[in-house]
Amino acid sequence: MPIVELNNVWKTYRMGAADVHALHGVSMAVDKGDLVSVMGPSGSGKSTLLNLLGCLDRPTQGAYVLDGRDVSELSDNDLSEVRSRRIGFIFQSYNLIPQLNVIENIEVPLFYQGLSEHESYEKAVELAKRVGLENRLKHHPPQLSGGQRQRVGVARALANNPAIVLADEPTGNLDSHTGEEILELLLSFNRDHGTTLMIVTHDPEVAKRAERMVHMIDGELTEENGS
Ligand SMILES: Nc1ncnc2c1ncn2[C@@H]1O[C@H](COP(=O)(O)OP(=O)(O)O)[C@@H](O)[C@H]1O
Ligand SMILES: [Mg+2]
Repeated sequence: MPIVELNNVWKTYRMGAADVHALHGVSMAVDKGDLVSVMGPSGSGKSTLLNLLGCLDRPTQGAYVLDGRDVSELSDNDLSEVRSRRIGFIFQSYNLIPQLNVIENIEVPLFYQGLSEHESYEKAVELAKRVGLENRLKHHPPQLSGGQRQRVGVARALANNPAIVLADEPTGNLDSHTGEEILELLLSFNRDHGTTLMIVTHDPEVAKRAERMVHMIDGELTEENGS
């Protein structure tokens, strides 16, 4: 059974009198452990697709089944609960909380898991170690390099053992060497821990590293086999 299944999904934004069809009947399935890259020109619907998959938004039409549950018509509250429990997000601009240190940023998604303070702390430390930040636990984001900030982003995305991790241009703000390190880190979680991963990227070299490559053009999706 796929972990993620979209069935003829449409997303239409109403702009005054005009309708913008950001997604045109998209269907796709992602299995547990898949690594999928998404490429496409600006405005083609990539972020709209990720926002739907990440339960930040709902389809205008069509069905989204996440891990066996139809989430296309949930209330805002139910949708945000699903999002906090089942989804990991990685952003181009990291979206860390500057007032919180590394450990506390990683702990944010754990807040919803009902762990004790000690369990939450231990889990965050373990994640920080897994992304190579064991010497930066008490640092705040402004004291970290871009690559280190994105390592925090990766650890935070993994904290709630998500069904799928969605990364929107995760290396877009990094130099090529640092971007490569972050990409390797993400790929290692897919390879070694079976983390299901979808990466939006402009970089064909990044896209080619995925076993599945998806292209979006004008809200439609085509797929080819990658490496
Ligand atoms: N909140 C919104 N309101 C209206 N139109 C939007 C909104 N978000 C995206 N769009 C439009 O939907 C289309 C797809 O946008 P987006 O998913 O952001 O593309 P991409 O991430 O591939 O650049 C674009 O035409 C964009 O202008
Ligand atoms: Mg986008």
